[in-house]
Amino acid sequence: MKKKLVILSGAGISQESGIRTFRDMGGLWEEYDVSEVATPEAWSRNPELVMRFYNDRRKQLYESEPNAGHRGLVDLEKDFEVQIITQNIDDLHEMAGSSSVLHLHGELKKARSSVDESLIYDMDGWELKFGQLCAKGSQLRPHIVWFGEAVPAMDEAIPIVQNADILLVIGTSLNVYPAAGLLNYTSKETPIFVIDPERPSVSHREVEYIQEKAGKGVQILKEKLIEFI
Ligand code: APR
Repeated sequence: MKKKLVILSGAGISQESGIRTFRDMGGLWEEYDVSEVATPEAWSRNPELVMRFYNDRRKQLYESEPNAGHRGLVDLEKDFEVQIITQNIDDLHEMAGSSSVLHLHGELKKARSSVDESLIYDMDGWELKFGQLCAKGSQLRPHIVWFGEAVPAMDEAIPIVQNADILLVIGTSLNVYPAAGLLNYTSKETPIFVIDPERPSVSHREVEYIQEKAGKGVQILKEKLIEFI
């Protein structure tokens, strides 16, 4: 029986694919004001700006490839039952071949009704336009969890973390809740590994830091995980 390896990933794992993080030097939130592009109020106040922000990021995503970090996590599926819980809205984990990916904050390549969040549509290109309507006739919006909105996927994520034999945290500053709070749902015997060139603060838990970028860090992690196979 393969041990359950649960992975909480953030923007840092896509950084080596050329996708910007949020809070690093040169991160997206240095250039854009979150309240202008990533809140429901922004969408009602200035939908053109919000639409352009996500269209720009989606256009860039179509020109991006998974990196060694994503691919290394796929390799781990040989020896572990791997479940990825990602804060990322890109689909690079899926593009690399990961078989179980749960998106907490939505998916850039999907759009959804602005009146009924159960109406979700795969997009067929990078540009979401005004005039594209859902089945109920309302404007489609990015299928993204904006600041201030609920994170329904947490209901599915919590039991996954509770049942983890091993937890890997990779490429996230652990600044945003409720996602960052998932660490508190592991049992205290569950070893936690953190891969990040900086040291995100993990309070009241012993963790093993691998202070590397994702590509190299996952290779080092593989060696450390041999004892758990
Ligand atoms: N490899 C691994 N980690 C990296 C790399 C890399 N190549 N480059 C940067 N990092 C680390 C940074 O040190 C930082 O700890 O990735 C983390 C990125 O943190 P953030 O930019 O805060 O991204 P994230 O934690 O994913 O943000 C969470 O905030 O804006 C919201 O919804 C958005 O999902 C996002 C959430």
